[in-house]
This record gives sequence, C-alpha cells and structure tokens, in this order.
Amino acid sequence: MNPLLSRLQPYPFERLRQLHADVTPNPAFKAISLGIGEPRHATPQLIKDALTASLSGLASYPGTLGEPKLRQAMADWVARRYDLKLDPATQILPVNGSREALFSLAQTVLDAGKPGATVVCPNPFYQIYEGAALLAGAQTWFAPSDPARNFAVDWAGVPEAVWAKTQLVFVCSPGNPTGAVMSLGEWKLLFELSDRHGFVIASDECYSEIYFRDEAPLGGLQAAAALGRHDFKNLVSLTSLSKRSNVPGLRSGFVAGDAALIKPFLLYRTYHGSAMSPVVQAASIAAWNDEQHVVANRAMYREKFAQVTPMLSAVMDVALPDAGFYLWAGIPEAFKGSDTAFSRELLALYNVVVLPGSYLARDAQGHNPGAGRIRMALVAETAECVEAAQRIVQFIQSKVH
Ligand SMILES: Cc1ncc(COP(=O)(O)O)c(C=O)c1O
Repeated sequence: MNPLLSRLQPYPFERLRQLHADVTPNPAFKAISLGIGEPRHATPQLIKDALTASLSGLASYPGTLGEPKLRQAMADWVARRYDLKLDPATQILPVNGSREALFSLAQTVLDAGKPGATVVCPNPFYQIYEGAALLAGAQTWFAPSDPARNFAVDWAGVPEAVWAKTQLVFVCSPGNPTGAVMSLGEWKLLFELSDRHGFVIASDECYSEIYFRDEAPLGGLQAAAALGRHDFKNLVSLTSLSKRSNVPGLRSGFVAGDAALIKPFLLYRTYHGSAMSPVVQAASIAAWNDEQHVVANRAMYREKFAQVTPMLSAVMDVALPDAGFYLWAGIPEAFKGSDTAFSRELLALYNVVVLPGSYLARDAQGHNPGAGRIRMALVAETAECVEAAQRIVQFIQSKVH
C-alpha cells in the first residue's frame, strides 16, 4: 500500500458526521443544511439540452487535449471575462472539474526527490490542496488568512527558509471559506516571490463568477498580464463550471496559463486518463458560450446574501464577503470560542447544520485560524436560507440573554 495514504486527514464532512453522530436534532424544525458547499440552484436548460443532443459522443474515446472548439470556447470566455488573449492550442486544457486538476497538477509539478519539498497553502483552505501535496510526497506549510488582515493571506509572513523549499503555492481567490479576493498588490508580491524561488502558483478561481461588489474578481492571469507577465510564467489558473453554471455533477472546468506548465500537465493527464467525455465537452461549450444564466445566477446569490447577511451580522461577527457563496462568521463570546459546540447545539436545538471553522484549517504557527468561526454555505433557495438565519439568530439570542 502507498504509505503516503496514511498521511491524509479525514475530510471535514466526515468529521462533521462524527461530531453530529450522537446529536438528536429538534424534530419541531425541518432540517436545513448550510454545511456542504454544493450549488443547489437549477441547472440551466441550455446545458441539459446540449448534453442530451450530443449523446452520440459516447461512442468515441475523447482526446486529453479536448476538441479545438471546446478550447476555443474557453479562450473566448477568458477574452470576454478578463480581456486576455490566450492561445487555445498551448495555454488551455479542459479538466474534469477543478478538484481533480488541483490534485493532478500537484502530481505533475512536484519533485519529492528534492529535500524538504514544500507546498504553501492558505489556512483555512480547501482540503484537496493538502491531500494533493501529501500524496505527491511533499510537505505543507500553512499561511494564515485571518480577520486581522481582512482575510488576505499572509504571504509576507512565510519565512524565507520555507520559500527556499517551496515548489508549489495554492491560491484560492475568491477564497473558500473567507470569500476574500486577492488584490493586484498581493499578486505582485507572490509573483516576485515566485521569480525569486522558482515555485509554481496554482490559482483556484472556481468561485470567480459569484460576487457581490460591482467589479468582478481579479483573476490570476489578469493580474499577471496587468503586471507585464504576458507569458504567465509559473502560473496556472483553474476555472470551473460547477458554481458558475450550477453543474457540479457535470465535472467540467479548465486550466489556463503558462504553456511550459500546460505541456507536461497534458502528458501527465494522458497517462492519468483524465480526458473529458465528448458529451460533457458539448455541454461545456454551451455553458461557456452563454453568460445570461451566469448573470441570473449571480443575481439570485446577491438577493439571498442581501437578506441573510444583515440578519446574522446583528448577532455575530460576519460581513458580506467579496465573493463566493459562504458566510464565514465569528461566533459570539458566549460560546467560549468552541465552533464545534456551536455546531452541535445549533443542530440539537434548531435542526440547522453549519460547519465548524476549525475543521477547515490546521493548527499552524501556534493557532488554528478557523477556530471560533463557522462556515455557512448559502446554497439553498433564499427562503430556506432566511429561515436558517432566523433560527440562528434565535439560537444566539437565547444563549446570550
Ligand atoms: C475552493 C474550491 N476549489 C475547488 C473546488 C472543486 O470544484 P469542482 O471540482 O467542482 O470544480 C471546490 C468545491 O467545493 C472548492 O470549494
């Protein structure tokens, strides 16, 4: 057996299941889960239609590179969204969702044969970053993103000795769970560090189309171009349809950026067997070519967050994020910092599931930046999220008074 498997940590939802195993939810309330970040708005009809219209694609093996018209649709979307001109032949690759691409990219770029091979991750973070690093034989170093810097990741605080061993940095912008978007200044710092130490930057941008400010989130490639890095040296961004188009089951996204990374990534993927089904390719072309459903989807999230955020901010430390579909809230002092106790009691008394923040982060440099916080995924319809918020308000008020 691969000994590295034993280094993997239980997934946050497994820990949540165990935390709640002996809790009996109050049967007076209908169950509401704000736990899992799975989009629940309806899948657009045009994507379903494109899928069913292309079932003939089941009869042939797809190439790992994907059809040229798929890569062109992705490049066209990047051009519209970020005002960037990418070469679809060398700078874009289709992937089966960003999760598998985050994982397989790490296997492609990491060289565990070099002493101390290190991957720097934000903290809290999406757990795939850690698993990808560990299974590639590397070690992790966690850079905190906490309220003190308005949830910007403290890249400047990573010691030089760590950077010297770093081969890969995961960026998550917009962040899960914080919703924070990296600024051009933060990108500049990270590019300078990458130039100095030679590491690759994987920018996970799967929440890029769900945002609450007027300006759309800055993308990694866009930041690079703005700073004159037109070859995107050592940078790839990962974009997904799952959240943008409400198709988490389609498993479709793309990786774009430095052609010198895309080429070995394609080689790796050929052996890994991660070509995208022709049926999914057809549905993805339809999805990337349509922006109307994305605008409508964003409007639904904006309406939902506009209703829920002020309700909760009256009783806990939470604000409208830049982007994403999570509220990342500090729990009131009455809970003495225990996000797990908060989650258990809320389930027992009000039948609402929230994820303890400490499950999304690691103890690093003496503290867990997720402790004392909870993550609420506002993925259900507005009325259900509002009801969950009302129950949370009651729960907190009953505890505080
Ligand atoms: C930060 C982050 N990255 C990547 C993913 C994976 O998304 P997908 O594989 O559906 O593109 C998720 C899913 O929840 C996520 O939260």
